[in-house]
Amino acid sequence: MAVLITGIGELTTNDPELGKLRDAALVLDGETVAWAGPAGRAPDADERVDVEGRAVLPGWVDSHTHLVFAGDRTAEFEARMAGQAYAAGGIAVTVDATRAASDEQLVENLRRHVEEAAAQGTTCLETKTGYGLTVADEARSARIAGEVADEVTFLGAHLVPPGADAESYVDLVCGEMLDAVAPHVRWADVFCETGAFDEAQSARVLKAAAERGLGLRVHGNQLGEGPGVRLAVELDAASVDHCTYLSDADVEALASSNTVATVLPACDLSTRQALAPARRLLDAGATVALASNANPGSSYTTSMAFCVTTAVLQMRMTVDEAVWSATAGGARALRREDVGYLRPGARADVHVLDAPSTTHLAYRPGVPLTHAVWRKGARLR
Ligand code: NIG
Repeated sequence: MAVLITGIGELTTNDPELGKLRDAALVLDGETVAWAGPAGRAPDADERVDVEGRAVLPGWVDSHTHLVFAGDRTAEFEARMAGQAYAAGGIAVTVDATRAASDEQLVENLRRHVEEAAAQGTTCLETKTGYGLTVADEARSARIAGEVADEVTFLGAHLVPPGADAESYVDLVCGEMLDAVAPHVRWADVFCETGAFDEAQSARVLKAAAERGLGLRVHGNQLGEGPGVRLAVELDAASVDHCTYLSDADVEALASSNTVATVLPACDLSTRQALAPARRLLDAGATVALASNANPGSSYTTSMAFCVTTAVLQMRMTVDEAVWSATAGGARALRREDVGYLRPGARADVHVLDAPSTTHLAYRPGVPLTHAVWRKGARLR
């Protein structure tokens, strides 16, 4: 059944030829966008929805979350707000709670967060393993993630489990663990940082994953400058995420690569760090994605609108840049072209704001502006 969305005050397509349209219309046919253009030229459809001058944009593409977890880290957050620094070790608290949870609890928690995100306009969501850290627990997390999320990343190399020997653990990740998770995941990732995995260990994990045909992602340069960005670029990772502390060489390497720099402003704020240098990356010519990094430790929010608002108000991105980075940029970080756009052939993932333009995302910070959402052509709200 075809649905004509009309009365669009401002339509963000992200398509270089269609651009941003005023007084526009959009036709969804099943799971796909069939037509986008000026309202006066819109074809007929089975059903008509008048959005009365509101802004319409592609659903958010959240390319970085960690939502297969159980438990709570409020106490760690409180300690951080009292001055304690964020450190990778906190991950172990969530690992204990996740291992102790039943499959049903993990599925329910994941679904609840994905639904929370969708209600705010997120229509494509990546999530990771990484709170299991045994072969069985990582395989379970990967299977559960695959039942709910659009994209799944294996992050067995999130932390060396307390008490384990680092090199033996990397052997396990590169062998038995990868074999067990591979059927459920498209991506592999590594936390390349002091307190997690060093450059040589990270390279081993990424190369083993690439040999099995998985795409690569890297957590890098979150807590300080380091080898994460360089490694990601060298291995043609789809994205390197965090990018909070970058040398000039890192920025140049990203600008001349296919690796997307994914910045995570909610995490930078929740860990009381500097905000990632998105303006510097954009000015150098790098591709920037914005993502929530929703997880119970460093960034407990599913709000992509919050990330866009922060990017504009505090990171000196323009509204158009921030919206692109949170939609098409996220798609680029996932090496997809079917999401993040509203043009014929794209997935029918539509976000209607209760506002006349996307500028209101920054102009009205903190105000919930999601009016309606379609995902794969089905209306969610
Ligand atoms: O992206 N940096 C590593 N992983 C997550 C944090 C996970 C946690 O603290 O539980 C991140 O920030």
